[in-house]
Amino acid sequence: MREKLEQLAEEMTGELAGIKDLGSLESFEVEKLGRKSEFNALLKGLGALSPEERKTVGMRANELKGKIQAALEAKKAELSSAAAGALAETEWIDVTVPGIRPPRGHLHLTSQAIAEITAIFRRIGFTRVRHPEVDWDWYAFESLNMPGDHPARDEWETFFMDAPPDAKLGKMVLTPHTSNGQVREMEKKVLPIRMINISKCYRRQIDVSHVPMFHQFEGLLIDRKVSVTHLKGVLDHFARSFFGPDRVTRLRPFHFRFTEPSFEVDISCGICGGTGRLEGGAKCRLCKEGWLELGGAGMVHPNVLKAGGIDPEEWGGFAFGWGVERTKAMQSGVRIDDIRVLYKSDFRFLRQF
Ligand code: DAH
Repeated sequence: MREKLEQLAEEMTGELAGIKDLGSLESFEVEKLGRKSEFNALLKGLGALSPEERKTVGMRANELKGKIQAALEAKKAELSSAAAGALAETEWIDVTVPGIRPPRGHLHLTSQAIAEITAIFRRIGFTRVRHPEVDWDWYAFESLNMPGDHPARDEWETFFMDAPPDAKLGKMVLTPHTSNGQVREMEKKVLPIRMINISKCYRRQIDVSHVPMFHQFEGLLIDRKVSVTHLKGVLDHFARSFFGPDRVTRLRPFHFRFTEPSFEVDISCGICGGTGRLEGGAKCRLCKEGWLELGGAGMVHPNVLKAGGIDPEEWGGFAFGWGVERTKAMQSGVRIDDIRVLYKSDFRFLRQF
């Protein structure tokens, strides 16, 4: 029996030395040293020996088992560190590589545009002011030289408030333009005026270039000896600052009730580069033959000055006003060919900015 034990132990030691991975080592341990192993079966047979033999063979058996277990532990340690080493080779991490940054949010395009516009005009002395977005007919129309029954009013597609009218100021409206700020600013009685009034406007219109709630900015300058050249200089300053040196403007004679003379200010289209056609020949959806209408401008009408309590003999001025969203969409590098996306909840298009 003792010989059998010695022989088994020798075999096991040899086999152990040849094991190359942790999986085989585990099966080896179960198979050769476990409860159902041949070695264990031999140990169970010790009881049948004489007390003398049982003692010596038993001691030797324990000794052999101890040795094999020690060799097994040593093998386990060797293979585990080799496995960790192999992992370090294939799975190493460079802790100095920068992490993956989560996408950062930013202000809505309209808010960005408002900040840019404010900064551009601030540089030439225009202060941003705010006037009501729900206002009286007087400020939105009447004081701007548009009497109650005048057909020009139809162009403003106005929303009227369901509220009692004022005897002098008329009905309440959702301001259809920022021009309501003109006479309100004059009423502050601080001259000269250089204001930029930016706020929400409302009109019953919706298509690729109109939304019912939008923003306008209105410039008003009142001073002595103001001429059209001053207006042109201010518009050019804005066009260069906001659109970049590659965009050009033109003034077209026009008619507004609250300015005389009046103009429409156009800028070359940034989507089609002023050609009116997209790559592949399709018609540009945003502009008309390469030109985009920015908005209106002109020299403040004497009747408007009078409505604001200003003497037109002494003072004069110019005004201009147009949409913030449209203006942003015309900026080089901005690709919005349908303005309505700005006020949908799906902001995926904003990732380009
Ligand atoms: N308020 C006009 C509009 O909404 C635009 C405009 C035209 C504003 C001429 C002005 C101006 O200040 O002088 O269509």
